[in-house]
Amino acid sequence: MTGASGAVYGVRLLETLLDAGRTVHFTMSPAGAEVLLQEMDRRVRLDRFQLTDLLGGAASDPGQVHHHDYRDFRAGIASGSFLTAGMVICPCSMGTVGAIAHGLSQNLIHRAADVHLKERRKLVLVPRETPLHVVQLRNLAICAEAGAVILPAMPAFYTKPKSLDDMVNFVVGRICDQLGVEHQLLRRWGDAAST
Ligand SMILES: Cc1cc2nc3c(=O)[nH]c(=O)nc-3n(C[C@H](O)[C@H](O)[C@H](O)COP(=O)(O)O)c2cc1C
Repeated sequence: MTGASGAVYGVRLLETLLDAGRTVHFTMSPAGAEVLLQEMDRRVRLDRFQLTDLLGGAASDPGQVHHHDYRDFRAGIASGSFLTAGMVICPCSMGTVGAIAHGLSQNLIHRAADVHLKERRKLVLVPRETPLHVVQLRNLAICAEAGAVILPAMPAFYTKPKSLDDMVNFVVGRICDQLGVEHQLLRRWGDAAST
């Protein structure tokens, strides 16, 4: 999770992955922690990470989540030899998009993204910014050309969302589709129930 608006998307994604029985290697930038506090009133201490601080109390199996400090380049996910099913940066700030686009590798998040691109593994970026200037657009294009999936936090309205939850679930459901994680978060166009 990085410091773009939309911490709720990252939290819901983590909950969904845990419900699906996945193991998650989790890292968060300081700006990500700041946005989480602003938007969800949840204070995560990155130097003393507690999953319950992030999830707001409920953490069924804390063993499923491995937290890595954002500066820890010794973490497994900093190396291509450490196998994963993919990586999602959710939400993804424009600063992080720029760092990935230009291979800066200034923290573990940038480095793990580099690794997923070089290993040709799934990397999903969930940016949120508006409007976008040309440098940001070019950086997103560079990431896409390098193999990343750009999945902006843009909920659809054809599903007739009734709540904020519905809108969050739509975006998180589309991320899970990219990862091949089964979920019941959205009604699909073409399903009898949605037409
Ligand atoms: C409340 C808040 C909301 C922010 N929203 C966004 C945003 O939507 N998109 C964005 O690119 N940056 C946003 N920022 C700015 C980033 O947090 C800032 O550029 C930061 O340096 C990103 O660092 P990181 O990529 O290491 O998390 C926001 C900052 C704050 C405090």
